[in-house]
Amino acid sequence: MAHEALSNSSALLVTGLKKSYGGLAATRDVTLDIAAGHVHAIIGPNGAGKTTLLSLLSGALAADAGEIFLFGEAMHDRAEQSRVSAGLARSFQITSVFDELTVLENLQVAVQRRQHVSYGFFHSSAQDKEAKDTALSVARRVGLEKFAHQLSSQLSHGARRRLDVGLAIACKPRVLLMDEPMAGMGHEESGEMIALIQSLKQELTVVLVEHDMDAVFALADRITVLVQGAVLATGSVDEIRNNAEVKLAYLGEEEEDGDGDGEKMQEETQ
Ligand SMILES: Nc1ncnc2c1ncn2[C@@H]1O[C@H](COP(=O)(O)OP(=O)(O)O)[C@@H](O)[C@H]1O
Ligand SMILES: [Mg+2]
Repeated sequence: MAHEALSNSSALLVTGLKKSYGGLAATRDVTLDIAAGHVHAIIGPNGAGKTTLLSLLSGALAADAGEIFLFGEAMHDRAEQSRVSAGLARSFQITSVFDELTVLENLQVAVQRRQHVSYGFFHSSAQDKEAKDTALSVARRVGLEKFAHQLSSQLSHGARRRLDVGLAIACKPRVLLMDEPMAGMGHEESGEMIALIQSLKQELTVVLVEHDMDAVFALADRITVLVQGAVLATGSVDEIRNNAEVKLAYLGEEEEDGDGDGEKMQEETQ
């Protein structure tokens, strides 16, 4: 069932993906080729089908048609948990944060879940130790080491979202799906999340749905624009910024303000 990927470096290959809610086509024939090691951003107006697309990729929603390959391996006929085990994980959804547990305990639960998937239910004290160590290294990785023993309910919004990312990383994904990780964040918190996503690129591929165009332009290697459930364009940051159709449909025509910094684009997308 392996797929002859369009390019050898495909981390995620999606062909002809379709999903309707009753009469409404939320995803129309979406085809994507996401290269390994890239941050691939998906942008588009509200209701374009971005969240639906991520749910189809993660397996939270069943597609009406289409195929999904993770490094050439078919995912479309697998359940959500099996996709996570194969290395396709979604942050902010796969595991929810337990408020009554500390940061470290939350991460340990996520690590142990993965261990149970790999080794079966019974685990040894060596595995407990391993889970604790891994949880601590993930806490460090997402900048939460100093909050490791704090209850998750006491975290700031930004720290909590970094914990969400930590829970996903604890599953050792090869491709991480993120739905608006910067949502509701102030400037400083967004900056920390951008730095975290940037650092993740060294070890995994990120599919990033995001409204904050500053973040998208800072992080993305490639951008796909979705409009009414269909791919309008895929390209580099410059190609998308200069694509006339994209400007018209989504980014809005830039005002002739002379400095060419694209501020108007960002306003149009808020
Ligand atoms: N569970 C659902 N049932 C019916 N319609 C839905 C459901 N979820 C989303 N939709 C509709 O599908 C379209 C795409 O939604 P969504 O994927 O959430 O878009 P986005 O994330 O780009 O804002 C919208 O028109 C939305 O109203
Ligand atoms: Mg959405």
